[in-house]
Amino acid sequence: MFGRVKSGSFKDGLIIALNPEKSIEELRIGQFSKIKGQIYDFIGMISDLRLSVSNPDVFIDPPFHDDLLTSSLKGIMLQSELEFFPLLSIDRNSNTCHSVKSIPGHFDPLMDVSQVDMDLIFLGSGEEKKTRFEIGTILTMEYQAAISLEKMVERSAGIFGSTGSGKTFFTRILLAGLIKHAVCSCLIFDFHEEYGVKGFSEEVSSVEGLGSLFPNHTVIYKVEKGEYLREKTIQISYQDITPEDIRLISGELHLSEHSYETAQTLRRKLGKNWIKTLLHLSADELDEEQASSWQVHPESLKALIRHLSVLKDLSFLADESSESNTNEIIQCLKKGLSIVIQFNTRRHQRLSYLLISSILTRRIYNDYRRASEENKNYKRLLIVIEEAHYFLSPDISRETIFGEIARELRKFNVTMLIIDQIPSQIDAEVLSQLGSRIIFHLNADKDIDSSLEGVQNKSKLKQILHSLDNKAEAMIMGYVVPIPLAFKARRYDTAFYRAMRSDDLLDEDMDLGAFFK
Ligand SMILES: Nc1ncnc2c1ncn2[C@@H]1O[C@H](COP(=O)(O)OP(=O)(O)O)[C@@H](O)[C@H]1O
Ligand SMILES: [Mg+2]
Repeated sequence: MFGRVKSGSFKDGLIIALNPEKSIEELRIGQFSKIKGQIYDFIGMISDLRLSVSNPDVFIDPPFHDDLLTSSLKGIMLQSELEFFPLLSIDRNSNTCHSVKSIPGHFDPLMDVSQVDMDLIFLGSGEEKKTRFEIGTILTMEYQAAISLEKMVERSAGIFGSTGSGKTFFTRILLAGLIKHAVCSCLIFDFHEEYGVKGFSEEVSSVEGLGSLFPNHTVIYKVEKGEYLREKTIQISYQDITPEDIRLISGELHLSEHSYETAQTLRRKLGKNWIKTLLHLSADELDEEQASSWQVHPESLKALIRHLSVLKDLSFLADESSESNTNEIIQCLKKGLSIVIQFNTRRHQRLSYLLISSILTRRIYNDYRRASEENKNYKRLLIVIEEAHYFLSPDISRETIFGEIARELRKFNVTMLIIDQIPSQIDAEVLSQLGSRIIFHLNADKDIDSSLEGVQNKSKLKQILHSLDNKAEAMIMGYVVPIPLAFKARRYDTAFYRAMRSDDLLDEDMDLGAFFK
């Protein structure tokens, strides 16, 4: 027991007077603790720490040199207090967890949460049937932070944190868990080339990628031909490009809203080959007569073609749809393989990223939607995107496939994992729909606010986020955990590789050798 309830309310949380013997410095924001009420145990977190003085006159002539006097004032005139914010209550009669509906009374004691309490919270209610996967350890407790991998992918999720806070390392840990336990297929749009064969590390020369941990369950595609044998080069057909993709890359192409409308008209008039037709049009074919036959303004037509001509520089665009490997990728995913698409190009990297991701995601989404309407069941799919704000900024998310997936959530067995360092640039509506979120250290207040968009108890959780270390500490909250958890991420190191490689994969192994011939 290290304190007792002094005051508080349901709305604002409880104020606990700390025992004079307990040093306030030993406590930490985000620490789990419990108030033992008369009927319930209230489990919650410390959300603030403060010092109070009941009679400020003690500071007129403070007894700095008298230890005995100083310590006797503690607890009487000088008090250490903490703010406790209940997250869940345990009914001691039935030993069951409930949401918090009341508050404990005066003098009820505050104490550490026991392992038994934690087991009841995290392993109760049928959770034991799911695949539990260790993601780290709970801050200030010797208790493993573990989540159900199935739940993790049942709804879209977000991973936020400033650069260098550990997002990519954590994502790799999570994806390794999903692949090892054959929970879903993953399609990873790997903008910074960190998920394939190797990943960048600030501490060691490099770390393993998912391709090297699970060579028989991962296929790596590159935008430009790579150096490894077991890698493919991506090809996408011009026919796959729709005006909606053009809308997503309008910033890169410097296209106006009007050009987008022209593109829509031309797609309707020219059919699937619209881009190819436009790019192959010679200067003398481009006249008023041609424009009016397509019902567009001649100047708009010229402007659109001028802007679209950048597409000719993109090596992955194939003239013929037979050269495209979108079908092959979708087939792999349906079979349960995971795919990493690495953007190993310096030229037009962002444009390539947006275009390939948009085209593939739309194709997949349509396929999976059709399958679900026909009651066919493909393997669940998780689409992972780094730099998510490129796709989900408020001005474009409503019109692109990514906004739709994030909003419609799990209907067709496809969910997204979005990773970003500036959540404030993501559409608030998309953020508020996320099922779960993992938030690492964030510097800007507006990013912290956005990362918590649509979350209950925002102001309390914000305090805890402010207290996180700037590396590898995070909070996980939402659908995937019964209560928000502050934790230190598991290490992604040789011990982790060993754990992932040990025992054969829990799904039947596939021989991918033939695929790369
Ligand atoms: N779980 C972890 N295990 C090992 N090292 C980590 C872990 N998380 C972060 N790091 C270290 O911190 C650095 C930054 O992490 P990273 O995931 O690349 O950050 P972010 O993607 O948020 O920019 C890594 O290069 C690595 O050295
Ligand atoms: Mg990163």
